[in-house]
Amino acid sequence: MILVLNGPNLNRLGLREPDVYGSQTLEDLERLCEGWGAELGTAVTCRQSNYEGQLLEWIQDAEEHGFSGIVLNPGALTHYSYALRDAIAGQRLPVVEVHISNVDAREEFRHRSVTAAVCRGKISGLGFLGYRLAMEALLEGEAP
Ligand code: DQA
Repeated sequence: MILVLNGPNLNRLGLREPDVYGSQTLEDLERLCEGWGAELGTAVTCRQSNYEGQLLEWIQDAEEHGFSGIVLNPGALTHYSYALRDAIAGQRLPVVEVHISNVDAREEFRHRSVTAAVCRGKISGLGFLGYRLAMEALLEGEAP
């Protein structure tokens, strides 16, 4: 069972900078993730919050709630949240970090991720497809 977490401002997909993030909404993204989960043979639960503490609690409790991996788009928290980094590092489930946009091709502050180093891997710039690829990676199991 995979947990898909979207952080701050991702509830504004479709309205927010469509030239960067596209015209599809968070609801579209979540329906896609559920459909990909069905194809890949896993249940998917999608959640979004604008609140850092809420994301931390979902990550802390994910294993206890029966999840086997987490797809995480932390939004701007990626670039500065040591609390989020510690929450990822402090639990045992694999986490794949996803960014819809190519963060390395954007402003300098987006080039740094404080969370990626404690994640299994990071996917950036592939749009919503990144979430599917992250799910596939989690289902593949251990990285070499
Ligand atoms: C984002 C990239 C972040 O820099 C930004 O703050 C976001 C979205 C992405 O999906 O491309 O909110 O994580």
